Amino acid sequence: MFKLIDVQCSSIDEEKASIGALIIREGGTVVFPTETVYGIGADAESDEACRKIYRIKGRQQDNPLIVHVSDIKQAGNYAYTSQVEKFHELSGLWPGPLTVVMPRNDRVSQVASAGLDTVGIRIPDCAFTRDFIRLSRKGVAAPSANMSGRPSATRAEHIMDELSGVDLIYRAEKSRIGIESTVILPQGTKCTILRPGAYTREDLLNIFDIVEYAGPADKVRSPGMKYRHYSPGKQLFRAEKEQLLAYLDIHHDVLPIVTAETAADIKGDRLILGSINDPYAISSSLYDSFRTLDSSKYERGIIECMPEKGFFTSIMNRIRKASVEL
Ligand code: TXA
Ligand code: MG
Repeated sequence: MFKLIDVQCSSIDEEKASIGALIIREGGTVVFPTETVYGIGADAESDEACRKIYRIKGRQQDNPLIVHVSDIKQAGNYAYTSQVEKFHELSGLWPGPLTVVMPRNDRVSQVASAGLDTVGIRIPDCAFTRDFIRLSRKGVAAPSANMSGRPSATRAEHIMDELSGVDLIYRAEKSRIGIESTVILPQGTKCTILRPGAYTREDLLNIFDIVEYAGPADKVRSPGMKYRHYSPGKQLFRAEKEQLLAYLDIHHDVLPIVTAETAADIKGDRLILGSINDPYAISSSLYDSFRTLDSSKYERGIIECMPEKGFFTSIMNRIRKASVEL
């Protein structure tokens, strides 16, 4: 059985944080909240502790873990940050939903880095979690806290039902952003987006001359990209609003997942993601909607496509991976 402790992202509580810190130091596993999704963490310097994460998640061994740190100085314990030309500018985006892939040093567990000579580093925007990491005096290697292949968890309740063998779960509010961090590979004044997230291509163009999305050939660079991800267990279609409404006129055995604006045109059951004018409302309820579909009486769902610009590009990236075109 795991220990469950209620916390708030915005407030530091050293007594509670030191319980998790001790578990990390002793080689255990701790689920913690972040602004993106919940993570399941272990000592980033210990092969044995990191192995537990792969076992609990059923994760492929060749898929590296992100090392979460509490501040810029701690990032330097694991990565050769001075080799990253734009590191200073990038560090201005932290704490936040950004993972920077950099050359790694020997302190990073071989298991965590899955044999690569790089490490993805992130400083999460959750004050409680940063303090828990600081107190552990270790980097905390952590993937998203879900069984491999399932949608990432945006509420502690998702994890309590799903993962077994975890030592401690910190339960906070629902994740504010709700989709995983932007993962980038900086190379001089060029940057490759390995996984889109809340920091967009436009944001990164303030720092880099060239910003590209990784193509299929980059799968080797970000091993996680080749695995099935983020999907509900049930079949999910995607369609533009008009097509979706037309489909619902004929089919009544499918659960629509839509914006608040489109929901107004639907009579039967539907899951509302949020207003189209509030992208964070939509992203933060996306994975929850997949899980609700799975536990509903419906065998199939249909999700509304969003306009592909800015942060919506990242939301659509997850929707596309989770669904098939109608
Ligand atoms: O928002 C997030 O990033 C969440 C929270 C917990 O921080 N974490 C998360 O971790 O989504 P995970 O393991 O589910 O996804 C990490 C992704 C994977 O696709 C992995 O392959 C890639 O980042 N990645 C990690 N280290 C890498 C590296 N050294 N080189 C290339 N890709 C890397
Ligand atoms: Mg994941």
